[in-house]
Amino acid sequence: MKKPELTATGITAEDMDAEKLVTYPTEAFLSRDYALAEKKLLWPKIWQMVERETDLPDPGDWMTYNVADESIIVLRKDDGTLKAFHNVCPHRGRQLVSTPDMLPGKVHDVRGNNRKKFVCGFHGWTYDQDGHNVYILDQQDWHGGLTPEMTCLSEVKVDTWGGYIYINMDPDCVSLKEWMGRAGEILDHFQLDKMRYKWRQWAIYPCNWKTAIEAFLEPYHVAGTHTQLLAYGNYYALSKQYGLHSVSSYDTRDAKFQMSESAGTTRAGKGEDPRVSTYELIRENYETINYSASTETLVKAASRLKDELPETATAQDCIAHWLASAKKDDAARGVIWPEIPPEIMTEAGLAWGLWPNQNILHGVTFALCYRVRPYGDDPNKCVFESYALERFPEGEEPETEWVYADPIAANWGSILEQDFSNMEFVQKGMKSSGFRGPLPNPHQEQKVINLHRNLAAFMGRGAPQLLPDQD
Ligand code: FES
Ligand SMILES: [Fe+2]
Repeated sequence: MKKPELTATGITAEDMDAEKLVTYPTEAFLSRDYALAEKKLLWPKIWQMVERETDLPDPGDWMTYNVADESIIVLRKDDGTLKAFHNVCPHRGRQLVSTPDMLPGKVHDVRGNNRKKFVCGFHGWTYDQDGHNVYILDQQDWHGGLTPEMTCLSEVKVDTWGGYIYINMDPDCVSLKEWMGRAGEILDHFQLDKMRYKWRQWAIYPCNWKTAIEAFLEPYHVAGTHTQLLAYGNYYALSKQYGLHSVSSYDTRDAKFQMSESAGTTRAGKGEDPRVSTYELIRENYETINYSASTETLVKAASRLKDELPETATAQDCIAHWLASAKKDDAARGVIWPEIPPEIMTEAGLAWGLWPNQNILHGVTFALCYRVRPYGDDPNKCVFESYALERFPEGEEPETEWVYADPIAANWGSILEQDFSNMEFVQKGMKSSGFRGPLPNPHQEQKVINLHRNLAAFMGRGAPQLLPDQD
């Protein structure tokens, strides 16, 4: 096939719903110019997740969030509200809080407590919790010409959703609620705000941030990458755009089961005895994804299926019994499951791509999540983060912090290591002069297509295009 001619118009949401075939250019992954353009057109214009709210619980707690060349300070004020500022002193531009580059084993971010004022380390200009300037040495030397507007910190929009803190540097941006849209409404049912970190790790990884997030956007790669999982279950998945964001859900290749009860978030393992195979599927996933994407309670409840159900139990019986008994076990230890209507459960699917750089694989009592950011100006590097959230009994939440973890199985589990073993080589492969451009699966990899469709809207280039004869 020849490279298709790319036009400026791109594809519509309807094209995606119709699962039309598309391609898109590789510039977004490979070009330094594109990475530089992201600094102007993307990062300062979008809502992006900073951290979990629980990391800034008390008045005076603060932290920095860095993305591309931008550094933002987020502060919990004495009145309990959050405030965010660009991390720069308006005098001569020193960073107000020094944030060294994110280096392996070193700085993830800069944090502190009990902060009433920020004092610039260069000439001592000082700012209160609202960013107002409260001290300028020898202010008379400016002959009264400095106004409060000239000397205050530059404010950044800040809001929360799902227990996350988000910022947006664009003063004219839509609200975070509007930005989250239907995706936010659906995920609200899972009460992510009630979950707490189980573990959190980061790495500097040799691929573009989009190459990295895309490796976790679709289960189409399970059969080729995580081949060991095929012994336990079937990972066929559909995917669907929701405007900015998108979702994937388990699906079946068998037309007569499509859109039936079998589609959705949970499924029984394959094999002769669903009581056994369901447990094996759940245990295998849990143990090889660094003890995430499930919980101890769920795994234990699954292990009892063989004792608690008769041989004649169907796959549906197994799932229903498993969830009911895990729910009861959790309630007994003080972990109450949210009641999620079945139609929401179905629409909520398996995992969400929150555009552009956040992934949430959610369950009723857990979430496995990813976030990626560019690293410097290098399109071939990114800051990769993954973390597990879980509902814990009150007072039993573990203390965690960001841990730098080289991308090896010992640190991340064998599943993530398998994903790592692709990402670097996708980044390299896309540079081949023999690569004609991506051919994403329109049914199973629509989240990847949607990432590029929305990127193009902000970047003004790189829109996915219909392959010939698709009009
Ligand atoms: S640069 Fe901050 S006081 Fe001079
Ligand atoms: Fe994977």
